[in-house]
Amino acid sequence: MADPLVLGIETSCDETGVALVRGDELLVDAVASSMEEHARYGGIIPEVASRAHLEAMVPTIQRALGEADVDLSQVDAIAVTAGPGLVGPLTIGASAAKALSIGLNKPLYGVNHVIGHAAVDVLVDGPFPERTMALVVSGGHSSLLLVEDIATRVIELGSTLDDAAGEAFDKVGRLLGLPYPGGPHVDRLAREGDPQAIRFPRGLTAAKDQQKHAYDFSFSGLKTAVARWVESRVDAGQEVPKADVAASFAEAVADVLTAKTIAACRRHGVDTLVVGGGFSANSQLREMAAKRCAESGINLRIPPIRYCTDNGAMIAALGSAVVRAGVAPSDLGIPVDSSMP
Ligand code: KG4
Ligand code: ZN
Repeated sequence: MADPLVLGIETSCDETGVALVRGDELLVDAVASSMEEHARYGGIIPEVASRAHLEAMVPTIQRALGEADVDLSQVDAIAVTAGPGLVGPLTIGASAAKALSIGLNKPLYGVNHVIGHAAVDVLVDGPFPERTMALVVSGGHSSLLLVEDIATRVIELGSTLDDAAGEAFDKVGRLLGLPYPGGPHVDRLAREGDPQAIRFPRGLTAAKDQQKHAYDFSFSGLKTAVARWVESRVDAGQEVPKADVAASFAEAVADVLTAKTIAACRRHGVDTLVVGGGFSANSQLREMAAKRCAESGINLRIPPIRYCTDNGAMIAALGSAVVRAGVAPSDLGIPVDSSMP
């Protein structure tokens, strides 16, 4: 029997994503983004994002169906991001998914966005081995996940205690006078600087295996250290070497993320690492992860950037795995959960 055709809907932040997946095969992935509107405000405005999702939802579903030449009646199940994310935007996606579920009389599956960032890699690089480590980093999350079964057994080993990696980059971008979102701009600037110029603190690296916070991240102290360093230069009437600041900051973030991740792989005897989330576009993270994984004999999988930023494919991929695992569908009354673990 053919694998079920799963329609995935993602609306946790500013991207309206709709995708169709059958088995581990992606048929189509359609995305509409309201980022241009938010850039004017220097941050995501939840109300603006919600309205943009409402306007984009039906056209994006229609575009996905059209491009895949699929009729809505052929869809076997609907998967939707139930959390974490912004409540208003999540609600728009969940409402659309519930309406489709009722209208088509097909099961609904509310799934976890962060796990979706790992699951999407299956569409690109094939099924995961028995145990896989996943590092999910974006503007909203920095999570280290031990994936035993992507549909049913994912253990969160660590997450951010304060700012996510991308969020810290966006804040440092603002500090250096760069446009929003600052992450890609800081990255570009960092490539012109010396990553060893300034030794910024690495948060929580002292925590050893088995200790509390061994695999948690904290970037707020680092961000403050960067701000203090810049202020002290300005106060002293000295020029701020922006490229060196960017490079040294990016080095510190990549160092902490990769060191903890590799330590977790070693501790749990895992030899495959998936990196996902919009922050995986970061050059220093990519380079350091590639180098350290090679040194440790770890197989590194990073999907193309369009599947690392928020999209519908990640939700359809996870939904497809959940359906095939025989997990019971969600109740139609399922709420959205902005801080879903
Ligand atoms: O996954 P994503 O598109 O949206 C969220 O769920 O947050 O991630 C976007 C985040 C933003 O904070 C952005 O500044 C950051 O990832 N980002 C980067 C780079 N590209 C995107 N940060 C550093 N270097 C990059 N190249
Ligand atoms: Zn995300």
